[in-house]
Amino acid sequence: MLIRRLRGWELPEGEATAETPVPSRRKLMAGAAGFALASALTPETGRADSAVAKSAAGRFDPQRPLTPERDAETYNNYYEFGTDKDIWEDAKALPLRPWAVVVDGLVGKPQTFAIDDLLARMPIEERVYRHRCVEAWAMTVPWSGFPLGALLAAVEPQAGAKYVRFETLSAPKFMPGLQEPWYPWPYIEALTLAEAANELTFLATGLYGKPMPPQNGGPIRLVVPWKYGFKSAKAIVRISLVDKRPATFWQTIQPREYGFWANVNPNVAHPRWSQASERLIGTSERVPTQIYNGYGAFVASLYAERMKEPLFM
Ligand code: MTE
Repeated sequence: MLIRRLRGWELPEGEATAETPVPSRRKLMAGAAGFALASALTPETGRADSAVAKSAAGRFDPQRPLTPERDAETYNNYYEFGTDKDIWEDAKALPLRPWAVVVDGLVGKPQTFAIDDLLARMPIEERVYRHRCVEAWAMTVPWSGFPLGALLAAVEPQAGAKYVRFETLSAPKFMPGLQEPWYPWPYIEALTLAEAANELTFLATGLYGKPMPPQNGGPIRLVVPWKYGFKSAKAIVRISLVDKRPATFWQTIQPREYGFWANVNPNVAHPRWSQASERLIGTSERVPTQIYNGYGAFVASLYAERMKEPLFM
């Protein structure tokens, strides 16, 4: 009964959205640098600007055109606001300041960071990543933010830390979905410490050269590009280093469909649909799914000792 109601990810997808022009790289970069300037008016601004420029040179080239900005910002999964894709207007009411992120648990230096202090302190850069939802749609998104590893280094993980748990905002006044009691709120996600420290794992605070809009998880969200999108928790308020594997939102709801690992794999079907191909939002083109979403060179070694675990669901 419970599971029958939780079918949002298999709801019919919305109508194909009209394609809008992809912003030129130059325009995008100007926006990203502008964002770095606006959000970090500190002596670090120069460093942030050059980091943005360096990263955009293409270390993680997605080899796909960017998804039109309007599509990425109006086709969202955010169950706190509802199970439809078009929550973006309702989400706009969510205040993104003041905002603090607590970092605690098995760390030498637990800290609470005001979001703007974090932006000033962390090395802001841009990453264009493929973004793959378990529902078999995909986007290519220019995120800005900083590697989670930089934040972990600042709080000094202790020897016993094995997992990183992400807790997200619970604001019933703004989030009507929280009234649905059959979901295990708040939305929690988790990674192993090794996954969290991987160079790809990113805390994104911006999108298309602007601060992260509420519907995409502003002011700060996780991006784990080799895993299905449900691992990439939005609106993070607490990051805890722990010794036991945390219970996560979708795994609690249906472990056989949304497992802890959730690494992208075209050869492991979701129990109710194929993962062999994916639909690109913006053009509706269907393209083959890539193992680890194409990031195997960076992450496959994380799993060499774990091949008996259900890594791909
Ligand atoms: N984070 C929270 N807090 N709540 C959610 O419902 N949905 C997840 C993930 N993070 C979700 C979340 C899912 S299923 C996906 S595919 C991505 O966010 C979608 O991110 P996007 O809307 O920016 O494309």
